[in-house]
Amino acid sequence: MTRAGPGRSVWRWRPWPTSLAGRTALTLLIGFALVQAIGLGIHTYNQRILNNIEAQREVATRSALIYRRIAQAAPEDQRAVLRAEQKTAWPRRLLLTPEPPFRNSFALPLPARQILRASIIAFPMAKDIRPHGMTLRGAINPPRVMISFHMRDGLWLTVISPFRPTPPWRTPGFATAFIIMFMLGAAMIIWAVLRLTAPVRTLAAAAEQLGRDIGNAPSLPESGPSEIATAAIAFNTMAARIRRFVEDRTFLLTAIGHDLRTPITRLKLRVEFLDDEAMRDKFMADLDELEAMVASTLAFGRDIAASEAMVPVDIATLLRTALDEAADVAAEGAACVSFSGPDHLTLRVRPLSLKRALANLIANAINYGGAARVRLHQPQRDMVRIDIEDDGPGIPAAELERVFEPFRRIETSRNRRTGGTGLGLAIARNAVRAHGGDITLANRPGGAGLIASVFLPV
Ligand SMILES: Nc1ncnc2c1ncn2[C@@H]1O[C@H](COP(=O)(O)OP(=O)(O)O)[C@@H](O)[C@H]1O
Ligand SMILES: [Mg+2]
Repeated sequence: MTRAGPGRSVWRWRPWPTSLAGRTALTLLIGFALVQAIGLGIHTYNQRILNNIEAQREVATRSALIYRRIAQAAPEDQRAVLRAEQKTAWPRRLLLTPEPPFRNSFALPLPARQILRASIIAFPMAKDIRPHGMTLRGAINPPRVMISFHMRDGLWLTVISPFRPTPPWRTPGFATAFIIMFMLGAAMIIWAVLRLTAPVRTLAAAAEQLGRDIGNAPSLPESGPSEIATAAIAFNTMAARIRRFVEDRTFLLTAIGHDLRTPITRLKLRVEFLDDEAMRDKFMADLDELEAMVASTLAFGRDIAASEAMVPVDIATLLRTALDEAADVAAEGAACVSFSGPDHLTLRVRPLSLKRALANLIANAINYGGAARVRLHQPQRDMVRIDIEDDGPGIPAAELERVFEPFRRIETSRNRRTGGTGLGLAIARNAVRAHGGDITLANRPGGAGLIASVFLPV
């Protein structure tokens, strides 16, 4: 089975999408996320440096302020002022010592020292209270900055401040900006990919339509971006060629059939004058067969040419009617036919041509297999399946495909009783394929008969 039939893939979640749009979108989104992440990293790094500088300036200014208040006080009041300052300066700690405390601390890196020093020097202070010197140190656990001012009277005032620069991600708008940027970018990617792949879907839909209904499928608009327009033009040209090819073939078929009728009639008239009666009967039988073949060829041609409209039809009812009609003409009567399946199942089909196809299959089952059991299955994977089963000898495996060829009959059935011309299966498959479906034949296990399966798209 090579055409649209069972085994069409169904949609299911996979980590790597199967669609072109899905794959392109995912690739672009991953790339975009990577670029964003790198940008975010660089931004975070810069922001950290800025936040550190900011925090260092703040520490320096506050420390200088505290120093100025204490340095301004008279030497005998300094300790009292310090105690008062300590209350408001919390969580900073103030120390007044003869030497700057060095224990458990380290020299701050040069850039930090430069920033601290510059901020302190820039702080407004009367000339006579400016410190003689400064030591700038740091401590960890928790991170602290220790600034010691050498005061005029020789003592050292040390201001120990907790050092807590704002983490970059706490900066207002930081997260929001990145989320909005990512969402905007992602939306644009998805929009662009969907737009880009839309023509592919249109093309697929058009091809599907053409497969179902060569006669009436609309042509693609030949507009849009140049690649798309080129593809559309190529597609339309191809569709036109196929259409012309089918028309030519049909025309040829009916023309030959039509032109054969006259000589056959003439032959029949001449045979009437044959003296040898046995010979005459044989000639007559052959000519009758020839006539029947021509008649069904013409019917086949008409069938292809007639583009019947697609309408919603209850397949279950259509099958039951076809079975009843077959049973009426069968020698065994209603006993040899049966139907199972849902009571109703509506599909869009060409009712006359589909019914002719199904009637052909049912007639074959009764004629060659002595029974026709029809099973209508619920749609599966967008396909409705109809099985027509019989109790006959089946068909040799090598012939299963070949019996679909026009006029192909198996030797054993070359008798007038079954009455066919070998076009039934060709007509049936032609009709079902024009619906976008197919017919397959299979032997039942153990040579118990044949199953003809008809697949129709939902
Ligand atoms: N159900 C069946 N069981 C056995 N043989 C079959 C069956 N259906 C079709 N065939 C074989 O396939 C041939 C072609 O069938 P078809 O195209 O319907 O032509 P026709 O019925 O006019 O002979 C038949 O002649 C017959 O030999
Ligand atoms: Mg037949």
